[in-house]
Amino acid sequence: MSKTNIIEAENLTKVYKGKVKAVDSISFSVEEGEIFGFLGPNGAGKTTTIKMLNTIASITSGKATVAGQDVTKHPAKVRDVIGVVPQELTADDELNGMENILLSARLHHVRGDDARKRASDLLKLVDLDGAAGRRVKTYSGGMRRRLQLAIGLIHTPKILFLDEPTLGLDIQTRTKMWEYMSKLNKEQGLTIFMTTHYLEEADGLCNRVAIIDHGVIKVSGSPSQLKERVGGDVLTIELTTGPDITDFLRSIPDVHDVVRTDQSYRIKLPKTEKALPAIVEGVTKKGLEIKEIAFTKPTLDEVFLEVTGKSMRDEDAGESESYIQNIITERMQ
Ligand SMILES: Nc1ncnc2c1ncn2[C@@H]1O[C@H](COP(=O)(O)OP(=O)(O)O)[C@@H](O)[C@H]1O
Ligand SMILES: [Mg+2]
Repeated sequence: MSKTNIIEAENLTKVYKGKVKAVDSISFSVEEGEIFGFLGPNGAGKTTTIKMLNTIASITSGKATVAGQDVTKHPAKVRDVIGVVPQELTADDELNGMENILLSARLHHVRGDDARKRASDLLKLVDLDGAAGRRVKTYSGGMRRRLQLAIGLIHTPKILFLDEPTLGLDIQTRTKMWEYMSKLNKEQGLTIFMTTHYLEEADGLCNRVAIIDHGVIKVSGSPSQLKERVGGDVLTIELTTGPDITDFLRSIPDVHDVVRTDQSYRIKLPKTEKALPAIVEGVTKKGLEIKEIAFTKPTLDEVFLEVTGKSMRDEDAGESESYIQNIITERMQ
């Protein structure tokens, strides 16, 4: 049974002031219950797309539906079922955390005990229950973004839109944000549409992603599909001694290519996990001994490079890629 598309965009286009084509005829869909990542460098058109889907920016041409409602024809209906965590934070500095959430509750017609109960549950979810009575101007950047997440959830939306939810956050807060998002998605079936220019983050979190550059979607699919497209993993096996087993390795299903250097074999394959048992078993059966085994996986950065011809790293030089990678590796173990 195919899932329902909860967001659909068809040739969606935005031209600012008749000049800047920020979004250029993009089409995509998001299934109910998935975490969808909208990825691309600064200026790619991510915020503009999210604003059109959120009924904040007008659509120049094309169309979009959110939860079955056309965003241009029924903006109020769309706003009822979406939660929005914008790139620019909107909480009122002079109010405390609880007051900010209750203000948002009123705007969404959530009232009375219902509103208070939900507000305290949400403050707990984002670990701000201790700071609920403090004015937001005393909050750190991470606390503000967590509060903004709670604000976006007050009316129990079906779909949550997050624009760069982890931008500029320290690694602990960033990891926390992922945890909240995963939890909301898993436990409440919340559909999440998020933008980010941290590609590795999307890799760990999103069911499917679309990569956008200069207003155009270059490629979309699950992170593993996209990485397989780039050429898959590289597995390196070094044997202590023995005959040339290149032909044997090539005969294993799923192995794409083998290059031998002395006792070391560089094996290209779509997914190491799939072919590894057969490789190890075959080598062992031949009475050979494995001295060392290692593999590298392609990243979404390589996908970006392949589809755009340039590296995201060039644009976001110095961005903390390695510690993001470390965290992801930890989470995979
Ligand atoms: N209000 C605006 N008026 C004119 N141009 C804009 C406006 N907002 C964004 N742009 C331009 O549209 C393009 C896409 O911007 P944006 O959607 O913010 O990208 P991203 O969120 O991916 O960084 C950029 O070239 C940006 O300068
Ligand atoms: Mg943006």
